[in-house]
Amino acid sequence: MRFEYTVTTQNFTTAGEASSNTKKTLKLLGIDSKIIRKASIMAYEAEMNIAIHSEGGKILLDIEPGLITITALDQGPGIENIDLAMKEGYSTAPHEIREMGFGAGMGLPNMRRCADTFDITSNPGGKTCVVMTLTI
Ligand SMILES: Nc1ncnc2c1ncn2[C@@H]1O[C@H](COP(=O)(O)OP(=O)(O)OP(=O)(O)O)[C@@H](O)[C@H]1O
Ligand SMILES: [Mg+2]
Repeated sequence: MRFEYTVTTQNFTTAGEASSNTKKTLKLLGIDSKIIRKASIMAYEAEMNIAIHSEGGKILLDIEPGLITITALDQGPGIENIDLAMKEGYSTAPHEIREMGFGAGMGLPNMRRCADTFDITSNPGGKTCVVMTLTI
């Protein structure tokens, strides 16, 4: 079963909708609350990264027997140095974004911590794709 949620860039009115819809869907499907808590953090951080750092994209939620996969895919501009981006506290968020409470540089490390498997692919000028799974 696949659900797809669009994330618009720089729209802080709609930002958060993709992850709250992800959470709603998992609840409706009767998924365990501990799994929902992790999936919600993963989807929220992925969504905010798309809204803040990319030109827009989508969150895909795939549910199969025994496995939830959350994929965050955007239209660029990509990440120059993934090792650096994965470090706690590293952020390129500008001043206005930090004033809204984002930009602690904790999103990607938190996603990796919550997920059972975590994979990020990106290149400068290209798209960024984050694939995360939870065993259920
Ligand atoms: N989808 C993306 N496209 C381009 N760059 C990204 C993307 N996701 C993350 N990055 C880069 O990786 C850095 C680290 O991301 P991370 O989510 O850990 O922190 P943050 O978004 O800056 O702050 P926080 O998530 O704590 O609010 C970002 O500042 C940005 O430079
Ligand atoms: Mg982030």
